[in-house]
Amino acid sequence: TWTMAAFRSQAIAEIRQKVGSSRVICGLSGGVDSSVAAVLLHEAIGDQLTCIFVDHGLLRLGEAEQVVSMFRDHYNIPLVHAEVQDTFLDALEGETDPEKKRKTIGRLFIETFEAEAEKLGGADFLAQGTLYPDVIESVSFTGGPSVTIKSHHNVGGLPERMNMKLVEPLRELFKDEVRELGRELGLPDQFVGRHPFPGPGLAIRCPGAVTREKLDILRQADAIFIDEIRKAGLYDAIWQAFAVLLPVQTVGVMGDGRTYEFVLALRAVTSVDGMTADFYAFDMEFLGNAATRIINEVKGVNRVVYDVTSKPPGTIEWE
Ligand code: XMP
Repeated sequence: TWTMAAFRSQAIAEIRQKVGSSRVICGLSGGVDSSVAAVLLHEAIGDQLTCIFVDHGLLRLGEAEQVVSMFRDHYNIPLVHAEVQDTFLDALEGETDPEKKRKTIGRLFIETFEAEAEKLGGADFLAQGTLYPDVIESVSFTGGPSVTIKSHHNVGGLPERMNMKLVEPLRELFKDEVRELGRELGLPDQFVGRHPFPGPGLAIRCPGAVTREKLDILRQADAIFIDEIRKAGLYDAIWQAFAVLLPVQTVGVMGDGRTYEFVLALRAVTSVDGMTADFYAFDMEFLGNAATRIINEVKGVNRVVYDVTSKPPGTIEWE
């Protein structure tokens, strides 16, 4: 019978055979897929692997620190932490069009990655945590025949541009299998079970123009929402949960003063593969508590709403 332990040793043998003594570069996003790919590769080829983590300043609270400490300190995997937050945030300044935001982020991601790879003296192979659904989606994404609803940026086109060969050790696996492989490789349970997170990060959870101030508000609110979900024991029953900071301010009252601050939307869905999704039916008490905590603890938000749209017709992300 097919087991993850068997997959692991077979994948390691295949990587070794394919790569030989060449150097390999792996883009680390902080997500489960690229992390599992990196750990598997490291087990196969050790220090022939270098990871590049492009820190675009659009990650969640504490996420970048977590990635760096886990890979560099815990796994001892050679890691370049490209701190290019300002490059990304400056380039995004004033941009409100969702597709242009994605394109800008995708372009800068590739440029940064190339520059860092060059500093390392290049490599023959580029490793990616591509999954089986990514392989299918790149043929026809959500919109069906030749309609692009959202352009995905998962380093598409990078290997051709950089003239590198690809190693994609996860390309036959589904998400739940990648998680199982991650556990098999000793990655912490909490890390492996994390919800998917989009490449363009918090930029697409900040409809309208992205600013440092808004990202800060969003990070804090998002962390509280997730904390409440974990405390209620609901995290694993949900496919994705996150906060969206709306570009709308509303009037509120606090103490004996009037406030005029942002509206925050909460989103949580169940799904099998992200292609379709149902909004998660929290009980009202849970939502009320989460909203109260967010408004009390996060400066800049005075109203919280819950998104009850399923996919279709809504998409999971708001942009
Ligand atoms: P939507 O919003 O299209 O999202 O229903 C479906 C799944 O894809 C993720 N997503 C992205 N992932 N780059 C990514 O790597 C992107 O540009 C992107 N846009 C959406 C989303 O989080 C959900 O899991």
